[in-house]
Amino acid sequence: MYWMIFFWVAVGQAAVNQGFKSVPTTVKTFENDTVLLPCYVDNFGVPTRVRWWRKDTLLADSGEPNLVLPPRIKMYGNKSLEVVHVQPEDTGEYVCQASRPAPSGYVNQVHAIEVMYPPSVQPVPRSGELEVNLGEEVDMACEVEGVPYPVVSWVSKGEVLQLLDDRPRLRFRADSRNLSGQYTCVATNGVGEAAMATIDLRIRHKPSIQTRKNWVHASPGIRAQLDCRVTSWPEAKVEWFFEDQRVPYSSRIVKHSYGEDHSLIIRNVRTLDYGYYLCRASNSVGISEEIIELSGVANPAIFKESHPVGRTAYNFIWEVDSYSLIIDYQFWFRKYSKGVHGQWHKLYIPSGSEAIGPVHARAFNLTGLAPATHYEAVVLSRNSYGISRPSKIMRFSTDGATTESEQQLFEKPNIPKEKILPAVEVASMSQHLPPVDTESNDAYREQSKCILIILPMILNFFNSY
Ligand SMILES: *[C@@H]1O[C@H](CO)[C@@H](O)[C@H](O)[C@H]1NC(C)=O
Ligand SMILES: *[C@@H]1O[C@H](CO)[C@@H](O)[C@H](O)[C@H]1NC(C)=O
Ligand SMILES: *[C@@H]1O[C@H](CO)[C@@H](O)[C@H](O)[C@H]1NC(C)=O
Ligand SMILES: *[C@@H]1O[C@H](CO)[C@@H](O)[C@H](O)[C@H]1NC(C)=O
Repeated sequence: MYWMIFFWVAVGQAAVNQGFKSVPTTVKTFENDTVLLPCYVDNFGVPTRVRWWRKDTLLADSGEPNLVLPPRIKMYGNKSLEVVHVQPEDTGEYVCQASRPAPSGYVNQVHAIEVMYPPSVQPVPRSGELEVNLGEEVDMACEVEGVPYPVVSWVSKGEVLQLLDDRPRLRFRADSRNLSGQYTCVATNGVGEAAMATIDLRIRHKPSIQTRKNWVHASPGIRAQLDCRVTSWPEAKVEWFFEDQRVPYSSRIVKHSYGEDHSLIIRNVRTLDYGYYLCRASNSVGISEEIIELSGVANPAIFKESHPVGRTAYNFIWEVDSYSLIIDYQFWFRKYSKGVHGQWHKLYIPSGSEAIGPVHARAFNLTGLAPATHYEAVVLSRNSYGISRPSKIMRFSTDGATTESEQQLFEKPNIPKEKILPAVEVASMSQHLPPVDTESNDAYREQSKCILIILPMILNFFNSY
């Protein structure tokens, strides 16, 4: 309220010089109160006429006692102006003008009324909903009223936004779809309660699909569920395809959706159901697809334990999920040292158990190793539906191998492009499924596609040995 200070200085001095005994006053008050503005003039012994003005409107005139005054306004004999039942619109300047006969002319004294009232806000857009395309500028605001003028802060996702100033307008680029959500502006001015308004920001984008598993193991007779989570605005239509055909839904094959989660439930799986399924999500912005394989082959083996036995042997335990009997395992191992790999050695290991699913464990004692050597190994499992994908690479060293170089050895592999490598690399990556709800899904998707393309290669390669 810098203008107040200005008048204090400018008019305050004039008061001394111009014969006002009252001083300029700003009255802060509340709705329905009564305000008295003083105007005491030293009349220097000559008749002095006092008029009160509000902007260009004459409110009262001591020279015209019959003037009809605006409602709620009264001038007393001592020239004080009374405003009763003040309203927010009474806020403003009130000028007391004292006129004396020529040659004196007139002098002014400016008072002010400030009717304080609690804040109120209106969202812009008024609907409280804003929709933009990904990458476009977001421009939202809150129209704020209140005296004193309120301070505005913004809250989104439970956090106060760190802005440079108290701005009622928010502008930013919608460069990530996770910027969508509710934005609430909060206006406070110390009078009454804070006021708030909320704007729901929706960012239009192509559907994005996250799959928990791109490969689902099932055996005939059991129930299988393929899941894809679809994030999208506008809402996506989700369809399932099997071998390029729309899935024929039935009482056995059911599509199910709950919020962002979409599933295809296959009851009583048949071998004919095995194959590649496509989850396709489309909206007005675009189409996204994810492939999920339903298969009878075992899940990739997981190494559970490994430890050296003496200097030249190593013991492993791994586990495999398979609903059908494991026929045998392929155990592949080779020497591994900085940038140089030995030949793969391949061992067939009988399943060692007649157990029928779902979890199969196998212990294996690998003997005849060279001492003080680094190795790596993978395991594949075969059941009646075929050979599984390789396990994650297991790296191990026989007693006496340099451990200090191990870190370097494994972290910065300077690996030549060998025949086996892509398959094993991809297989190991596929174990690192990212958490379902991360943005890294794109990279993940690329990986999965890569796996799907490479998988036949892996199998061919293994068969050729
Ligand atoms: C002022 O008076 C009006 C009418 O009597 C009433 O509706 C309003 O609530 C009052 N305002 C306050 C702030 O008390
Ligand atoms: C002016 O008159 C009003 C009404 O009688 C009174 O309330 C007020 O105190 C007076 N002001 C002075 C300075 O006497
Ligand atoms: C939104 O996405 C960006 C990257 O796309 C990420 O850095 C940020 O942490 C995400 N924010 C939230 C609240 O998830
Ligand atoms: C593994 O083989 C080594 C060498 O033949 C033998 O000494 C050891 O007892 C075996 N360990 C297990 C757990 O079978």
